[in-house]
Amino acid sequence: ELRDVDGHVSRAIENVNTLIKPEIVGIDVHDQSQIDAKIIALDGTVNKSRLGGNATIGVSIAAAKAAAKTENMEPFEYLRQLASIKPSRKVPYLYLNYINGGKHAKSPIAFQEHMLVPDTASVTEALEMARTLEKTLYEIVAKKYGADVASEVGDEGGYVLPEGTHETPFELSAQAIREAGFDGKCFIAADIAASSFYEDGAYVMQGKSYSADELREIYLSLSKKFPILSIEDPFFEESFEDFAKLQKETPVRIVGDDLTVTNKSLLARAIGMGSIRAIIIKPNQIGTLSETLDTMHEARSRDIDCIVSHRSGETNDDFIADLAFAFGCFGLKTGSLRKPERVVKYKRLEAISLLS
Ligand code: PGA
Ligand code: ZN
Repeated sequence: ELRDVDGHVSRAIENVNTLIKPEIVGIDVHDQSQIDAKIIALDGTVNKSRLGGNATIGVSIAAAKAAAKTENMEPFEYLRQLASIKPSRKVPYLYLNYINGGKHAKSPIAFQEHMLVPDTASVTEALEMARTLEKTLYEIVAKKYGADVASEVGDEGGYVLPEGTHETPFELSAQAIREAGFDGKCFIAADIAASSFYEDGAYVMQGKSYSADELREIYLSLSKKFPILSIEDPFFEESFEDFAKLQKETPVRIVGDDLTVTNKSLLARAIGMGSIRAIIIKPNQIGTLSETLDTMHEARSRDIDCIVSHRSGETNDDFIADLAFAFGCFGLKTGSLRKPERVVKYKRLEAISLLS
């Protein structure tokens, strides 16, 4: 994505108005492939770095939303006309991020996201469970570290721990599940984002260096102790082999995000090497809706699950809920219920799940 030096997106907006607009005005909004082909050709880079993935995806999704409106359809219904993708579940699991670390929080915890995933097919029940879990976790964090710490909010709405090891967030999550009365009814998931603590061939956590083999042992041991559903980016973003080694030794879903960046060729490589069983789908990471659907289709045709995801920087747009629901994706990963731009997406998922 294209950001200004201060984090704003005025350059991306400018690109929409001055570069993309003249290329696509006049094309029928139903012609998603032509609109996206124009955008791709105009950008001309492999990663939308000229126009910005945030600029291109905004236009691409706006076209789909407008087309849905002219048909009197909900976006998820219209999406089903654009692609046929094999579902993983009737309704996606909610991946609620409740303890932030890594680059998303001022915390010594190296792993980036620790998520609670209610094991239910009802979004309403999942959200009720999430509220109870959030309250319980608040009390646990406040008791352990003080109310000020418990009030802190990481990028994706999680609690921010001032101390502890890589095991602490899993212990606190398991404690919250137990105390809330959801034992056996809630999974834990993690996004390690290991590239963020990979330095010169080793993984550095709290001043200590770990090899890929040592890190793999840590994941295997965590998976034995805790009800872990999936582990995202357990190694740095080019280590297809280390991903594969871990995936071979565990039934837990190993997930590619930084590894695959919603890109069909990288997905094909990950599938070929047996690196993953699930892929994170971030529309702005690839930059157009057509390419997003293409990657999802490819994943599902090879039995790889899709987890549709927000970004650490987000808007109030709720389109990803429609995307995850339209194709019965495995998960929707969009932070906690402590930040409004995350809540809108869960609320939208609940609303559309009640329509059908
Ligand atoms: P990002 O993080 O939006 O900062 O890339 C989200 C993730 O890693 O899943
Ligand atoms: Zn990630």
